[in-house]
Amino acid sequence: MVIDIHNHFFPAAWPDLSERYGTPDWPWIRHTEPGKADIMVGDRFFRHIYSACWDPEVRLQEMDRDGVEMQVLSATPVLFAYDRPLEHALDCARLFNDAALELCSRGQGRLKSLCQVPLQDIDAACEELSRCMKAGHLGVQIGNHVGEKNLDDPGIVTFLHHCADQGAAVLVHPWDMLGQPRMPKYMMPWTVGMPAEIQLAVVALILSGAFDKLPTGLRICFAHGGGSFPFLLGRLENAWHHHPIAHGDCQFPPSHYLNRFFVDSAVFDQGALQFLVATMGADQVMLGSDYPFPLGEESVGALIRASRLAQQIKHKLLAGNAQRFLGLESKSSEKRDSDSATPAGALAQPTQIQSGSEQLTYSSYLKIPELLELQQPQSSPQHHDELLFIIVHQTYELWFKELLHDLDAVVANLQASRTNPASRDEVYEAARLLRRCTEITRVLVEQFTILETMLPTHFLAFRDKLEPASGFQSEQFRELEFLCGLKDEKMLRYHRPTPEAHAQLERRLRNPSLHDVFFEALQALGKLAALPAEATERERFAARARAVQSLYQDEQDHRDWIDVCERLTEFDELVVSWRLRHIQMVERTIGVNMGTGGSAGASYLKLTLEKKFFPELWEARTLLMK
Ligand code: HEM
Repeated sequence: MVIDIHNHFFPAAWPDLSERYGTPDWPWIRHTEPGKADIMVGDRFFRHIYSACWDPEVRLQEMDRDGVEMQVLSATPVLFAYDRPLEHALDCARLFNDAALELCSRGQGRLKSLCQVPLQDIDAACEELSRCMKAGHLGVQIGNHVGEKNLDDPGIVTFLHHCADQGAAVLVHPWDMLGQPRMPKYMMPWTVGMPAEIQLAVVALILSGAFDKLPTGLRICFAHGGGSFPFLLGRLENAWHHHPIAHGDCQFPPSHYLNRFFVDSAVFDQGALQFLVATMGADQVMLGSDYPFPLGEESVGALIRASRLAQQIKHKLLAGNAQRFLGLESKSSEKRDSDSATPAGALAQPTQIQSGSEQLTYSSYLKIPELLELQQPQSSPQHHDELLFIIVHQTYELWFKELLHDLDAVVANLQASRTNPASRDEVYEAARLLRRCTEITRVLVEQFTILETMLPTHFLAFRDKLEPASGFQSEQFRELEFLCGLKDEKMLRYHRPTPEAHAQLERRLRNPSLHDVFFEALQALGKLAALPAEATERERFAARARAVQSLYQDEQDHRDWIDVCERLTEFDELVVSWRLRHIQMVERTIGVNMGTGGSAGASYLKLTLEKKFFPELWEARTLLMK
């Protein structure tokens, strides 16, 4: 399955818009020879196009040639008409929206469309979107600005809310580029102006705090790889941290919001694609070609296919992410962060697990054949116990995935509780999910006994095949530590060989931890006073411990919060038990020898027993006795 979410069409003919509206300079099509045409704007040449723009047969042939299963086509920004009177822009939008559906109806189910709306008038834009969604469009393509208004304009944000309500995918396309008097030649509005326009759109949405208010269910994508945004994210982040004026109105640093939007893959360079995936995450990038225009990808999807990205990531970029973006597949199947960040009470998206007429079975739903393919022993001839070794590790990783999923949701709930400390729902939900985390961790502690049925000699029979792979490289284990608040940047070095894992861990380092949000929530509750900037870390620690102490002393009023504290304490306790059982198993298997990751083995691991996620919860016990 390959889905291209960014490509364009023009109908073969449409009414003379200048005559229809009585105003000059509307786009029109001039057929020059069979299969070829020019788009004109008034009497000015705009672009050469060919029959793939209007002829579904040509399109389907070229899709077959490139191995593309589905295209989601949009009109071309030159038709947006945001600067025209509303009645003309609306009529024009309807003409081309209906033309898109007509073209798709001849596409053997492989052509889908995004509509356009008169974004200069929010009511009319919402109405046309609703009409189009009913008629069969999958979403909308909008320009990245409307005259002087950026995407953070309150009206446009209202429109984005409406898109989320309607389940419409939103593709943001650059247009009407800034600085054109200084770019008269060399296609610079396309090569310089467009990337800057998109960067401006993303930055405006983030810094205005729009993402803090928009529902997490909004599916929005920025064309052309997010323009210059991903490459300059570091610069933006630096400004955010060092200049209060650059903060804008968003709650978190800009990188916190990367999982809130998608970008397409139209970057035309392997290095750029690698960088894009490493920066945005493999769940946020998807195939977009700009086909069939002159600056589009010649063989659609070739850049992704030829990349050195792992097969699994290529699948995401070629189809999986687009299915999520378009609402064609279960939102829960692939994406970790944004789904799990749904606070208590938020409705889950409707789940459409499969498309087409294929009937769901136990096996297809759970992907059993794929799952059973994933155990690939290295020993040859295969050592009997290596299968157990692989399965036990894989099971741990699956549970780590679930823990991250649940803990992210705990973080989201505690954050939500801050905005409304009087509401108890989010606190109950956080405690309920934490209870699940402790039960999972209890299983994780127990599981080592299964591995201990393997004799040390049997492990030694295939151990040399494992080097230099090591538990140090478990990305999810480290994510769990970072998410809970134990952020040791040095551990990133074990993830240099895997850029996506490295980038994900860097994101975890930057994002607020469970520890942070828990104490911020206590602050909002009035239990923890803000300390002066010059307060030492020791004083801050003592204040946090006292805040917990006062919760316990006020049991009558804070049973829900005490429950959260108890669950966090239990989780902390169980993770230490996990560390201890792991060490015992390591000693039982390899004695005090070095690990495959180069550490001193058990004696190194013993040092980690001191680690606690929430030391203040333990300190509070000491204080309660004083
Ligand atoms: C025969 C079985 C195992 C042995 C001999 C073993 C050995 C070791 C050793 C020696 C280390 C220290 C790093 C190094 O030098 O490589 C380590 C770390 C680690 N191992 Fe294991 N391990 C085993 C099974 C497991 C299992 C089943 C898991 C489950 C996920 C696991 C997860 C980890 C993790 C997450 C670390 C990093 C711990 C930290 O940094 O605090 N190990 N292991």
